[in-house]
Amino acid sequence: RVNMSGRRGALIVLEGVDRAGKTTQCRKLLDALQREGHRAELLRFPDRGTAIGQLINSYLEKKSNLEDHTVHLLFAANRWERVPLIKEKLQQGITLIVDRYAFSGVAFTSAKPEFTLTWCKQPDVGIPKPDLILFLQLSPSDAMKRGDFGNERYENRHFQEQVLRQFNELMQDENLNWKVMDASQCIDDLHQEIKSHTEKVMEQVGDNPIRDLWR
Ligand code: TMP
Repeated sequence: RVNMSGRRGALIVLEGVDRAGKTTQCRKLLDALQREGHRAELLRFPDRGTAIGQLINSYLEKKSNLEDHTVHLLFAANRWERVPLIKEKLQQGITLIVDRYAFSGVAFTSAKPEFTLTWCKQPDVGIPKPDLILFLQLSPSDAMKRGDFGNERYENRHFQEQVLRQFNELMQDENLNWKVMDASQCIDDLHQEIKSHTEKVMEQVGDNPIRDLWR
């Protein structure tokens, strides 16, 4: 479908620690935008549907073990395999709402001992740069109150605290459009905030070129 508006879609990423409500908010945002007549679609990483995604899925479900550098590169490869699709959709004027992106990739691996932020960022250098990154902020103790973590890899309090620390480092980057949201507020209030930030950015992107992340 041709894009008659001359305006590209916006790349909107939701990030946060586990149990912050990212998936719920992505769905609500998608519904709201579509209801208002915008063209919008959802993406999530990891995308467990591809061949690489299946390797990641089996690792997360603890059905297989992978060496730490190896799994990091697989997560990045799982994003790169969607880059052509992402660029195509944005050029067609479709706004993409993305549940996790390279920031989860870096935060989770660099929370492991012996990994630097610099090393972790490299494999994702050059993927499409988000126009907006909404960080759903939730303290580890509030996250715990939302019920037990599941049984997947990384779902434990100590590790999540390390992950949050790494996200905070990534948020210092002033070349990126981070917006920190209070994820302890009620679902609908949070949704309204997310929606208003998103709509503002959708108007601003115009026909600006899609930039490269971390380059
Ligand atoms: P999900 O629960 O949103 O499907 O995410 C699966 C887990 O994978 C979650 O604990 C975060 C982690 N993760 C990484 O370690 N690296 C990545 O690049 C991504 C996208 C997620």
